[in-house]
Amino acid sequence: MLEPLPAPDLLSVLRAIVGERGLLTGADAEPYCQDWRALYRGRTPAVVRPAGTDELAAVVRLCVQRRIPMVPQGGNTSMVGGAVPSEGGEQLVISLARMNRIRDVDPLDLTMVVEAGAPWKAAQDAAAEQGCLLPLSISSEGTAQVGGILSTNAGGNNTLRYGNARDLVLGIEAVLPNGQVLHALRRLRKDNTGYALRHLLVGAEGTLGFITAAVLKLVPQPVQTEVALCAVPSPEAATALFRRCQLNDAASMQAFEYMSGTGMGFVLRHIPGATLPLATPAAHYALVELASTRRDGRLRESLESVLEAGLEAGLVEDAAIAESEAQRQAIWKLREEHAEAQKREGASVKNDVSVPISRVPELIARASAACEALIPGVRPVPFGHLGDGNIHFNLEQPPDWSASDFLARDEEIMHVVNEVVRDLGGSFSAEHGVGRLKPPMMREWRGGAELETMRRIKAALDPAGLMNPGKLFPAS
Ligand code: MLT
Ligand code: ZN
Repeated sequence: MLEPLPAPDLLSVLRAIVGERGLLTGADAEPYCQDWRALYRGRTPAVVRPAGTDELAAVVRLCVQRRIPMVPQGGNTSMVGGAVPSEGGEQLVISLARMNRIRDVDPLDLTMVVEAGAPWKAAQDAAAEQGCLLPLSISSEGTAQVGGILSTNAGGNNTLRYGNARDLVLGIEAVLPNGQVLHALRRLRKDNTGYALRHLLVGAEGTLGFITAAVLKLVPQPVQTEVALCAVPSPEAATALFRRCQLNDAASMQAFEYMSGTGMGFVLRHIPGATLPLATPAAHYALVELASTRRDGRLRESLESVLEAGLEAGLVEDAAIAESEAQRQAIWKLREEHAEAQKREGASVKNDVSVPISRVPELIARASAACEALIPGVRPVPFGHLGDGNIHFNLEQPPDWSASDFLARDEEIMHVVNEVVRDLGGSFSAEHGVGRLKPPMMREWRGGAELETMRRIKAALDPAGLMNPGKLFPAS
């Protein structure tokens, strides 16, 4: 396919702003044009990689002048195609990967100032060096960048204790769609001075400007951590076990994850080195993690007692508690490799949904039945963050179907799942965002005053509609 030609001088003007290292074209730009799931393949005249906020602001002003649409891209790990350019070939990809400094970590203020292009893991490591925890953990944290995590308001495994990305943001620096720089890197816990503009940019999926740096909240690093993998008889039992864990030691609850036997089977089959620390495979699993800054050494006792009570009550069939950091990581690997294992097993349709925690078992039962009725042989793979009500209700293709035949049914599948989710008072996007995959659902679910107000905000900040077009908002 022929690449569309950018206006003759566009590349040289961009080069004058960001330098040779700051511009990628042709084959070098290719990896930025496809999303992680390979759902979309777009085209771009160039990938622009500014080295700092002022360079980015100059690029944005140029784009406004010439009416060039921009697609912000972080680690390109979006599950909903949020960071890929369209097929038209007119959208510039703007990567913040070179703006990756950790500007400051302050263990007394419990804050860090970090630039948008830093991989989340690098920020976590920098915090850990100062005895602090940057408390948000997701499977893609080695690749996902701060800017993308904030722009999508990512959640992950520890939301039940520390909240999602939004809850961690105290201050922000951003380049707005008119090229102005918003300097609001305040590290204050209290600051009631009008609209909290940082919260407009967090979760905006790059439609309102570029987050370039943020002040993030830290917590003291826990000194005791205990993790267990439990075989449980049903999602109801997993939910009842969660309740018991909360009553047992709510302040130490760090994660409570659910996995199905199907998803675990894929991990054991496809992920090298993955082994089950239990005698036999189960139909359902719960992963419980407790963590504490107390130094009393009693966390283990606390976990053992709640699991023993769970065994007696028939909520737990078997359990393995990690005896070392290596075992802790091995248990987490079983959970974190779920998305990768599903990819290796074949095509999957993802539903990143949330419902009230009490309704999770009903969600799993009803959505599984609805999908099996729609496509006999489909394999439901529900898993995720039971402790905050966010279940990844993913469906794996029937083994004897082609990937394309299965993916051709994605809208129908998402529809039947979402019907159940709606009935249970849930959301069609819990932590992955709307991206390019789900804008039509915005019309259905957020129509009326909610969507209209979002459109007004968008028009006020980005009147020419140049920021990440085709994402978040439905076409009309
Ligand atoms: C996860 O929690 O592992 C991801 O958000 C996964 C997914 O939906 O595949
Ligand atoms: Zn998740």
